[in-house]
Amino acid sequence: MSNELYAVVGHPINHSKSPKIHSQFAQQTGEPIEYTAIQAPLDGFAVTVRQFFEGGGKGLNVTVPFKEQAWELADCRTARAEKAGAANTLYQNNESKLVADNTDGHGLARDLLSNHGVRLKGARILVLGSGGAVRGILSPMLEQHPASLTIANRTVAKAEALATLFADEAGTATLSACGFEEPDQPFDLIINGTSASLQGDLPPLCANVITADTVVYDMMYASHTTPFNQWALDNGAIHVFDGLGMLIEQAAESFQVWRGVRPETVTVIDAMRNG
Ligand code: ATR
Repeated sequence: MSNELYAVVGHPINHSKSPKIHSQFAQQTGEPIEYTAIQAPLDGFAVTVRQFFEGGGKGLNVTVPFKEQAWELADCRTARAEKAGAANTLYQNNESKLVADNTDGHGLARDLLSNHGVRLKGARILVLGSGGAVRGILSPMLEQHPASLTIANRTVAKAEALATLFADEAGTATLSACGFEEPDQPFDLIINGTSASLQGDLPPLCANVITADTVVYDMMYASHTTPFNQWALDNGAIHVFDGLGMLIEQAAESFQVWRGVRPETVTVIDAMRNG
């Protein structure tokens, strides 16, 4: 039997670690899949997706800049994709309808809880940013019943809009929005979901938000300490993590959605970290 075909679609795509991650999952689980990377033209995402599935492809991961388009294109969406407003996982159901899912937020929650042993229940969480990446993680964070979740952003109106959108999921958590300079009390967990470091910037936070007990998580990952995590270390943080674990956990969740098998992730995180 020939392998079933999966791929990640983005633009650019040559930097993607997904083929390497999914190859390791396939090897480990014995699932007969082949996973490639496809660069879609910036104006040709829908055509690329259609051709992939018409050619017998089984599932796609979607990355920058197409996650919102993937969400729009789908015939139906899982509940978590619906609320995220973006999709990173596509497949066809039994009726050949294109289904959009979003495993990013699950990946973050799992990396924090399982890999880093972070306690989210009752935690005071500060989330930085209000773009697509942050929108995708708010439901999974609120599901963990934090004491509070504060969304801070350069454009405060966007943070306020997200706080309004997710108010129905807050439960007993205090959900609020503000600018970067406003928070001046310590948090248990700070998640950087901005793309500021791509421009060599740092969100202008008050250093009081950090203590030695604060867990700092940059959703970006790099072979070196990210600029945000370096800033946190310089201001007294000890527990700092980047987004490599989130990347691998979202991939594992996509693999499970497609194949019904959950790959083991710890060895894959180690392997990717070291090479
Ligand atoms: P993504 O899909 O990665 O979330 P996005 O939707 O473009 O990308 O959102 C980027 C986020 O990073 C936004 O919260 C943006 O702030 P604004 O809403 O004010 O634009 C934030 N961001 C980008 N560049 C930044 C910078 N130089 N300093 C601080 N925040 C920045």
